[in-house]
Amino acid sequence: MSLKINLDNTWVTSDHHFWHRGILRYRREDQALDDAALAESHDQVIRTWNQTISEDGLVLVLGDFSMAGLNRTEEVLHRLNGSLAFVRGNHDNAKTLRRLKDRNPEKVHSVQDYLEVKSDGMDTFWGVCSHYPMLDWNGRIYGSVMLHGHWHSAHHSYPEGIGRIVNVNWDVAKEPLLLRSVAYSMGAIRGEGGE
Ligand SMILES: [Fe+2]
Repeated sequence: MSLKINLDNTWVTSDHHFWHRGILRYRREDQALDDAALAESHDQVIRTWNQTISEDGLVLVLGDFSMAGLNRTEEVLHRLNGSLAFVRGNHDNAKTLRRLKDRNPEKVHSVQDYLEVKSDGMDTFWGVCSHYPMLDWNGRIYGSVMLHGHWHSAHHSYPEGIGRIVNVNWDVAKEPLLLRSVAYSMGAIRGEGGE
């Protein structure tokens, strides 16, 4: 699927792992895994999300959103600003996400395994979205940016000079990234105000 997006009202993020106690080991120095620690972690992610993303924003969620079933995933969804376009990760349940979309069409934009986005204004930006990092992707030699999650730390490396790549994993990026900022930081924008 290819989607026209507004660079100034579209964010990208991944790997929130809501309801996943094990992920707290990456996020808490005290290594607490109890209910209170989980609730605190949810509050922290949701606060950062809502401070960053506008209520009418589009959010590309590149996988591993929630480890829970429909009801508890829905609970989190309704606390988050924006409409979510899901690209599935290895921890996402396809049926849960489909039912989430059916029950919340105003909050869930789409559910798929792969997504491409292009800017809809005078600027030209091409993003290729996948949960997993790829070795090659559509438009790589023309300057498209591969946006991925899955890697929860920054110590992974890519082959040198391969192209424009951004790991949007929550545990690396620490916040949702505005696509306009991604485009500028990668030098991946042409047209007004760009190259
Ligand atoms: Fe993950």
